[in-house]
Amino acid sequence: MKTIASLLIAGSLATSAAEPPALIPQPVSVQPGEGSFKFSAGTGIRHDRALESEAKLLASDLAKLTDSQPKTVVKELTNALPSEILLDFSEKTDLPPSGYELKVQPNGVVIRGKDAAGVFLGTRTLLQLLPAKLAEGSAAIPAVTITDYPRFAWRGMMLDVGRHFHPVPDIKRFIDWMAFHKLNSFHWHLTEDQGWRIEIKKYPKLTEVGAFRESSPPYGNRNSDDGVRYGGFYTQEQLKDVVAYAAARHITVVPEIEMPGHAAAAIAAYPELGNTDIPGYSPKVMTRWGVHPYIFSPKEETFTFLEDVLSEVCDLFPSKYIHIGGDEAPKDQWKQSKFAQEVIKREGLKNEEELQSWFIRRIGRFLESKNRNLIGWDEIQEGGLPKTATMMVWRDAKWAKHALSLGNNVVMATTSHTYLDYYQNPAATELAKGVEYEAIGGHLPLEKVYSYNPTFVAENPQQEKQILGTQAQLWSEYFKDMKKVEYHAFPRIAALAEVAWTPLALKNFDGFSKRLEGIMQHYEAGNLHYCKPSTEK
Ligand code: ACM
Repeated sequence: MKTIASLLIAGSLATSAAEPPALIPQPVSVQPGEGSFKFSAGTGIRHDRALESEAKLLASDLAKLTDSQPKTVVKELTNALPSEILLDFSEKTDLPPSGYELKVQPNGVVIRGKDAAGVFLGTRTLLQLLPAKLAEGSAAIPAVTITDYPRFAWRGMMLDVGRHFHPVPDIKRFIDWMAFHKLNSFHWHLTEDQGWRIEIKKYPKLTEVGAFRESSPPYGNRNSDDGVRYGGFYTQEQLKDVVAYAAARHITVVPEIEMPGHAAAAIAAYPELGNTDIPGYSPKVMTRWGVHPYIFSPKEETFTFLEDVLSEVCDLFPSKYIHIGGDEAPKDQWKQSKFAQEVIKREGLKNEEELQSWFIRRIGRFLESKNRNLIGWDEIQEGGLPKTATMMVWRDAKWAKHALSLGNNVVMATTSHTYLDYYQNPAATELAKGVEYEAIGGHLPLEKVYSYNPTFVAENPQQEKQILGTQAQLWSEYFKDMKKVEYHAFPRIAALAEVAWTPLALKNFDGFSKRLEGIMQHYEAGNLHYCKPSTEK
């Protein structure tokens, strides 16, 4: 005989069959089951001993819903919990790295990961299965079986803190939202013409001098100056804290130290590292946006400095990849510098582009000696691409094709689909809201981000494998605070996350848009300053 409870459960099954759960990124497989699991403050977490960190993180996330800390116990303990979520490793040998299985049944929730990253990512899915806010202290999660794993290993977000500095609590909050979307690579753009943001013990002037500028362009007039001294930097203790915070969430922090260009702040701190033999040499920390002429001189002193800096960077950041920038390095100063021209002659190089390539190759060899891989923007191929370098493609797909044909790995980060500093609605619509809505330019709507397929440049399966993944960029010229970063990042991060995670065959913008409505409830609950999607062209 059917009880009222089972009839109610059958009712919820009908609903769940009609409406797939609002998950982003869309998992590989979602099979609705029968009944539902009742989550409440009494729900505890049982876990493999090796998953204590993942269990504690899930517990603190669930505590935000229930206002009480859930019990966590290791799986060997036999004491029963009123209801439980089990975190364990999967026995499935064919589950790819970072994959997981999540089963919600009336008698409990089980998340089994291929590895700890998979378990953690499964817990992020569970948070999306739960409502953003609990009604009356509990929630029924419809039964479901999910099998899931990522399309790409590199699912990234780059944040520029050179143009505007964003404090550690903001960075941590940002990392949490990255994890919510299953992104796993936080590319931290730490040095710029307008500010050096990373403490280097051996070179204190980098932050004493290089972390501060005398003025910035105000919103509304990029060709003027507010006359207000501006700056900030992260201490090594803070950097280690962020790296550990991210690592606990299975996010790698990839630091970027720009060279040979975008180096005005470093050269202002240590003028001897620039092209001192050119007319009118007078470096300072830049106060306007755009590309600036000050680039490092190719002298031994510079390499000693850069190797010292990178040694401290390697000590702080365990990332396999170290980003050395390489973009937008105007060659005018090298053309004018007698010394740079002598290096070109001495090394048998054809021109300044080959000098840049020689410069980058030297740095690459140093990073190899530290057991790290060099990654740089696509200009690193000008004058010849180092064999072991990974190229971050930002300008044109032709550079990706070039690198792939040479056998190099690439990360797809093209302006066309991944530059989230561009307007998401037409500029006039945004600027009508106020001058503080100013962006650098461009127009990159949500649907266009969603339409990105990072492997479109690959000509064969081998080249597809060389595409490590994709990432979105948040250049900070027009982001004076984190609210503005969030406004530009969300919900376009959700689209990027699905590009990076979900199998191509399962992508569907209408389905994504529907699921996004559910995800935006989490944004609301988390006070995220996101931009409401619009279809305005
Ligand atoms: C870049 O946008 N300069 C990489």
